[in-house]
Amino acid sequence: MKLSVPGRAAGVVVAAVTLLTTGAITGAAPAPTAAAAAPDIPVANVKSHLAQLQSIATANGGNRAHGRTGYKASIDYVKAKLDAAGFTTTLQQFTSSGRTGYNLIADWPGGDANQVVMAGSHLDSVTAGPGINDNGSGSAAILETALAVSRAQYQPTKHLRFAWWGAEELGMVGSKYYVNNLSSANRAKISDYLNFDMIGSPNPGYFVYDDDPTIEKTFKDYFAGVGIATEPETEGDGRSDHSPFKNVGIPVGGLFSGADYIKTAAQATKWGGTSGQAFDRCYHASCDTASNIDDTALNRNADALAYAVWTLSS
Ligand code: TRP
Ligand code: ZN
Repeated sequence: MKLSVPGRAAGVVVAAVTLLTTGAITGAAPAPTAAAAAPDIPVANVKSHLAQLQSIATANGGNRAHGRTGYKASIDYVKAKLDAAGFTTTLQQFTSSGRTGYNLIADWPGGDANQVVMAGSHLDSVTAGPGINDNGSGSAAILETALAVSRAQYQPTKHLRFAWWGAEELGMVGSKYYVNNLSSANRAKISDYLNFDMIGSPNPGYFVYDDDPTIEKTFKDYFAGVGIATEPETEGDGRSDHSPFKNVGIPVGGLFSGADYIKTAAQATKWGGTSGQAFDRCYHASCDTASNIDDTALNRNADALAYAVWTLSS
C-alpha cells in the first residue's frame, strides 16, 4: 500500500561457485525511462507469499529449516516466481552440519554490472516452527519487490540483484558462503547490500540499521515522508546476513521490526502496540505462524524496501 517520498542511486555482480542458472543474463529490457518513482508494494501479495510459506511448512513437518524438505520447497516456490518474471536465477549449493543448503540469487538483466545494488533476506526458519516473521517476512517482501521491478520493467542505472540466504539460523552460513566465494573484483562491484530480517513483527518497532549513512538516510527519508518515527538498529551487528558483507567493506543497511527484546513505554507511545511485551513473542517458536504478522508494519516496511531499491539504483 502506498505512502510516498523522494530519491538517489547504487550497483550488483555475479556469484562464483554456482550450480544452476536459469534464463539469459543478456535478456533485453525496455528502454530506460527517467527516474521512475518506486511503486507501492501490494501488501496482499506479500501476505499471499507468506500463506504459501506457511503451507509449505505445514506440509513438511512444521518448519522450513536448513537441510529439511520445507527449506527446499521454499526455495523452489521463490525461484519459480522469479524465473517466470524474467530474472536470471542461480542456486548456490553448500553443505553445513552435514546437510545440503542453498542460496538463491536473482539478477535483473541490465544496469551497470560494476555497480550492483543487492537486497537479501534469509529464507530458512529454525526447526521449532514455520518462521513466518523470522524470516518469511523479509523473504516475501523482497520477492514482491523483485516482481514489482519486473512489472514495471524497471531499468535502473545500476544492476539489481536479490538474494535468499540459506542456513542463517546456523550462523549466517549461506551469506558467508556467498561472500567468501566472490572474487575481490566482484565484491568491489557491490555498491549496497540491504538486509531484511523480521519486518512484520506483531508488536512492531521501526528500526533502521545504523550503518552506511546514505542507505540509512534513504530509509529514514521514506519513513519521515510517511510520518513514522524510527530508531537506529545497532544490536543487529553480527546477528544477520548483512554482517559478512559489512566485514569485507561493502556498504550495508536494512530494516528490522524487533525480535525478543521488550517494547518500552516510550516506544509504545510512538508506535502503538504493547509496552512490557516483546516485539515478537513468537521469536524462534512454533507460534511464528502466518498469524504472527502485523500487516501495517509489513506494508510500511515493504514499501520502504521498494523505495530504497529504486532510489539507490536509479
Ligand atoms: N536472525 C536474527 C536471529 O535469529 C534475528 C535478529 C535478532 C535480528 N536481532 C536482530 C536481525 C537484530 C537484525 C537485527 O537472531
Ligand atoms: Zn532471522
